[in-house]
Amino acid sequence: MSAYWLDWLSLLTRWAHLIVGIAWIGASFYFVWLDNHLDAPTDAALKDKGVAGELWAVHGGGFYNPQKYRLGPPQMPSQLHWFYWEAYSTWLTGFAMLVLVYFLDPALNLLDPARAAPAGYAGVAVALGFIVGGWLVYDGLCRSPLAKAGWMFQAVLALLLAQAAFALCWLFSGRGAFILFGAMLGTMMVANVAMVIIPGQRRMVAAIARGDAPNPVDAQRGKQRSVHNTYFTLPVLLTMISNHYAGITHAAHNALALVLLAAGGAAIRHWFVLRHRARERAGRTSPLALALGVSLIAATVVLLQPPRVAGAAVDDARALAILDIRCVTCHAEHPTFPGMAAAPNGAMFDSLERARAKRSLIATQVQSGAMPPGNLTGLSDDERAALLRWAQAR
Ligand code: HEC
Repeated sequence: MSAYWLDWLSLLTRWAHLIVGIAWIGASFYFVWLDNHLDAPTDAALKDKGVAGELWAVHGGGFYNPQKYRLGPPQMPSQLHWFYWEAYSTWLTGFAMLVLVYFLDPALNLLDPARAAPAGYAGVAVALGFIVGGWLVYDGLCRSPLAKAGWMFQAVLALLLAQAAFALCWLFSGRGAFILFGAMLGTMMVANVAMVIIPGQRRMVAAIARGDAPNPVDAQRGKQRSVHNTYFTLPVLLTMISNHYAGITHAAHNALALVLLAAGGAAIRHWFVLRHRARERAGRTSPLALALGVSLIAATVVLLQPPRVAGAAVDDARALAILDIRCVTCHAEHPTFPGMAAAPNGAMFDSLERARAKRSLIATQVQSGAMPPGNLTGLSDDERAALLRWAQAR
């Protein structure tokens, strides 16, 4: 496929992914908010109908009064709304992006010769192994007796995820590792919807339609998975935008950064959940979870700070010569690199003025090792150090 068509396909898929992702996460945030704000009804008629919680809200000029039934309504309403296409289409468009950006040409963004994953499509197979294997391990864990063990289960899950983050960063390019970690978590979230929550709801609906009581185990399982999804959300969103920040994804301690940032995101989400519930505890939310989340992120910021390189000044001619042989094949007005239609992100180094204008970006990309992608043009360590000294000089 020509670079022109690939560009369009990539932009339109990304757009669609963003739209359906917002629809999914928006609905998911709303229902978590709703569930945690419900108050027991005072109206006897509501209680008799089996309503366990209700609330009043005003939005867009209208007043709303959602009610949650203990297990289900006595009879099925004629029109019952379901929420699953948002999740499924987010996964489908996300997987399409993964193929377009990382799998079609794995040497470009997924792999790094300095990392352990095998070259070419064997590396893609390892990546797919994480996505499928992640779900199998997580689902097995949720079905094991450990799932009833409260914090023990959470600790084991957190430990396994941290191990996966380290393994991914050891195997793949920093950018590839971050996105695969997000894809793995995102797949667990969507599979939770497709394989556990929705089938359980279908059984509940069928039971009510038959006039039987729904099985509470289906409700509990659905709730467990939807709680997990809530905590996965912020870490997943972080990985989805991380690919724009090579200084972070390609940092020396990128695996630790990924773990700390993901834990920070989950802690902040926990604070929001507590805040939703706070009304029932006289309106106070302990700031502990928020403080923990922010501290983890702040610690990562300090940890990743790159050292300034020492050494003799590098003159413009030497820098330009390195850029010319190692970068300009892609970063020029008319790139010569096969499949590159235009300068990536508009970054061009085919003249001193253009290169100077992008100095700080060059410094980040070169220091982290993110550029050249997969070191396709063979930038040597000496050249890297020289280019970095030039780019960091004021
Ligand atoms: C094989 C093609 C290729 C080569 C060679 C290459 N780059 Fe890039 N570069 C890319 C692509 C693709 C992107 C866009 C990455 C993205 O969208 O995340 C990029 C992005 C960048 C950016 C912009 C980052 C931003 O945030 O806007 C900088 C700066 C950069 N490269 C520097 C370099 C330097 C310096 C070299 C040489 C040492 C180099 N690149 C070599 C393909 C290349």
